[in-house]
Amino acid sequence: MMSKGWTKNDIGDLTGKVVLVTGANSGLGYETCLALAEKNAIVVLAVRNLNKGLEAIDKIKAVVPEAKCHAMQLDMNDLSSIREFVHQFKARYNSLSILINNAGIMASSYQQTKDGFESQMGINYLGHFALTGLLLDLLIKTPNSRVVSVGSLIAHKIKPEFHNFKGSKRMKPIKYYGESKLACMLFAKELQYRFRLHNMETKSIVCHPGISQTKLFARGSNKLKRKLTRASVKFVGQGAETGAYPILYAATSPNIRGGEYIGPDGRGGSKGAPTELEIIDELYNEHVASNLWKISETLTGVTYKFKNEQKVL
Ligand SMILES: NC(=O)c1ccc[n+]([C@@H]2O[C@H](COP(=O)([O-])OP(=O)(O)OC[C@H]3O[C@@H](n4cnc5c(N)ncnc54)[C@H](OP(=O)(O)O)[C@@H]3O)[C@@H](O)[C@H]2O)c1
Repeated sequence: MMSKGWTKNDIGDLTGKVVLVTGANSGLGYETCLALAEKNAIVVLAVRNLNKGLEAIDKIKAVVPEAKCHAMQLDMNDLSSIREFVHQFKARYNSLSILINNAGIMASSYQQTKDGFESQMGINYLGHFALTGLLLDLLIKTPNSRVVSVGSLIAHKIKPEFHNFKGSKRMKPIKYYGESKLACMLFAKELQYRFRLHNMETKSIVCHPGISQTKLFARGSNKLKRKLTRASVKFVGQGAETGAYPILYAATSPNIRGGEYIGPDGRGGSKGAPTELEIIDELYNEHVASNLWKISETLTGVTYKFKNEQKVL
């Protein structure tokens, strides 16, 4: 269904809903948290640097003094940090209405995560695969819960190869970025397929923010390149607040059925209001997605258990 002119003002009241956002301290993650706090959600900001998370909460509270926000440390670069985070999260919360898998890097050079994965594949995709799997029981027992994954326009042009999760200096980092984002998109579709297969009401949705002015483009070692990239992003893209709308729409719209791909409706998908995109059907291949799932379970050591837990009231 089209969402003509949708803005964050269209979000309904979220009182009592626990929302978890990764990469919550800056860019799209921050704007997402602010919008959800404005609608009374209990917002958990998962951040790799706790101070940055607390600063983000101060900024949110300057706008929404009554905001219910909590910062928790989570380093997506490290599977043991993800496990520890989930342990702490479950000790504190007994429901999870919306999980937003947003944290991400676009690396300019080859690096590996603590567990030896190419860093973009590890942080953007495998980390979120593990996080979602470890939180699955909580999601399943929370009525009408959702998992939102963040893809990218760049993934539309990537061949789904997924041969090498450790990476190599010979392959351009941007290729791994595109693969990592495509993996997030295939994961989201496959997750929705598995929720339906097991008669679960939890929904999985994927979205992309077009081209949004955030720090994603401000990282990397070459100053001139960074300046040029930032200038062109400003020219073709949109601000971070509007960039977060596809995430927010996927997370909250009552029109969502599960399995949609939401992105901006204007200028080649780079900006605009959130709408449903059909290209996901061309990108999704059942065989590739199910193989990727198997590999991801092996690499992360996280096996998904789709069993019905008792619902929280
Ligand atoms: N901006 C765009 O045009 C665009 C386009 C397509 C897709 N996306 C996607 O949108 C998402 C958000 O990016 P953004 O544009 O908002 O960029 P951003 O401002 O750079 O935000 C990225 C967030 O991810 C966090 N992060 C990075 N590495 C992490 C780690 N190891 N563990 C935990 N958190 C980590 C960052 O934390 P620190 O501040 O501590 O580094 C930051 O909060 C990403 O998944 C990106 O791929 C963005």
